[in-house]
Amino acid sequence: MLIARKLIKKFVTAQKPLIAVNEVSLEIKEGQTLGLVGESGCGKSTLGKLLLRLIEPTSGSIFFEGTDILSLPPFQLKKWRQKAQIIFQDPYASLNPRMTVEDIIAEPLKIHGIRVDPALILQALAQVGLNPDHRLRYPHEFSGGQRQRIGIARALILNPRFIVCDEPIAALDVSVQAQIVNLLKALQQELGITYLFISHDLRMVRYIAHNVAVMYMGKIIEYGPVEEIFINPRHPYTQALLSAIPSLEKAPSRMLLKGDLPSPTSLPKGCAFSTRCPHATALCQTDTPPLKILDKEQKVACHIC
Ligand SMILES: Nc1ncnc2c1ncn2[C@@H]1O[C@H](COP(=O)(O)OP(=O)(O)O)[C@@H](O)[C@H]1O
Ligand SMILES: [Mg+2]
Repeated sequence: MLIARKLIKKFVTAQKPLIAVNEVSLEIKEGQTLGLVGESGCGKSTLGKLLLRLIEPTSGSIFFEGTDILSLPPFQLKKWRQKAQIIFQDPYASLNPRMTVEDIIAEPLKIHGIRVDPALILQALAQVGLNPDHRLRYPHEFSGGQRQRIGIARALILNPRFIVCDEPIAALDVSVQAQIVNLLKALQQELGITYLFISHDLRMVRYIAHNVAVMYMGKIIEYGPVEEIFINPRHPYTQALLSAIPSLEKAPSRMLLKGDLPSPTSLPKGCAFSTRCPHATALCQTDTPPLKILDKEQKVACHIC
């Protein structure tokens, strides 16, 4: 079980400080997937990196299987870096073009001082559906989907318990997206890995996730079991996101969001969504709504829901 409480990440830039993640709390049960959705710039990647401790939060807590991730001494932090991996959007940009597939997959072992056993490399290739002969080739010899498989093999080699999948299919052809999501799903079933699955593709999120968190301007504004969110979205922002999926049964009729995203360096008072919300009241413009629990474990941060 991964538990994060009140995570805040403030970036101090040349301009005004920016709160990329604002009091986010979440839980992911072992072997399950939390889907994380929201517009570009809302803080999804920052949240993923915080959970891996690739960046340090400004405040908050993270526990994984009972261990306090934020107060690990250096040796234990290294162990956490084995257990927690990331898969990126663009496999090509994250694979060194001058390294063979074998060397790419073996690199995490070397970083962690683990002997490179060729059997481990072959096992990782098999796990992601690549041919053993592929190990001596270079990334440019592969298609986008195969490159993402190499990226997944590299993440698997350390036998991780938690993987942040940061838009892992966004750069792939539609025809191979489902194959990669199926692979991630099968690996989870086989190995019991816990995922944070960040995606723009709500249909894929519905397919892979057990729970969904919807983010808006650094905050989780709706959270709950995947089918509750898709069948009965409560927050007007979630409704607008879902209304853009044409094939969804019982889809709310298409809602176009008016106005632009507010600037993350000067958030509106009250609910950050109030500037674009068709139902906003005076209260929404002054008071930030707390994330309140509805039935069936669904939570929503909205005064009018
Ligand atoms: N290292 C950084 N320094 C300053 N601002 C950052 C940094 N990383 C991200 N941001 C800002 O934080 C916000 C959230 O970014 P990000 O987490 O990448 O969003 P998403 O993944 O949802 O597109 C954005 O406004 C982005 O510009
Ligand atoms: Mg991102």
